[in-house]
Amino acid sequence: MLSANMERELNKQLNAELYSAYLYLAMAAYFYAHNLNGFANWMMVQNQEETTHAMKFYHFINERGGRVHLDTIAKPEGEWTSPLDVFEATLRHEQKVTGLINHLVDVAMAERDHATNAFLQWFITEQVEEEASAETIIQNLRLAGDNPQALLMLDRELGTRVFTPPATGA
Ligand code: FEO
Repeated sequence: MLSANMERELNKQLNAELYSAYLYLAMAAYFYAHNLNGFANWMMVQNQEETTHAMKFYHFINERGGRVHLDTIAKPEGEWTSPLDVFEATLRHEQKVTGLINHLVDVAMAERDHATNAFLQWFITEQVEEEASAETIIQNLRLAGDNPQALLMLDRELGTRVFTPPATGA
């Protein structure tokens, strides 16, 4: 059984994951509007991943006898100045999410809630990957600089990304 405090914290994270999904949907729209369909595809896959993250929290709260409370999803930013600007915002966002997950682990440990702590470990690993992939794309964009051909090559590469559902859980 979740404590009232843990339940509240997990519900906050469920909302944060839905916000992430919404943010990446906004970023995909930015790229579609600039005819960078590969970048847009990458963001659409990111959107799907974030939705599965949200659903992991949703199911976990239920499994532990808690109650899911859905709150307002904040309006995401919709304009950026360049693809590099978008991915720098992505990295900053993922670093913030890493902080939120670390905070949740701190709460679970303080409450000696071992089941929640174990559940959160998947997200700890996931955040390492999330930050690393944003960093790689930032480096590629910096290398591409103002070269349109390099940007289009990167766009083609990001267009190959496909959504793979997580192996365990929903
Ligand atoms: Fe759900 Fe991008 O972390």
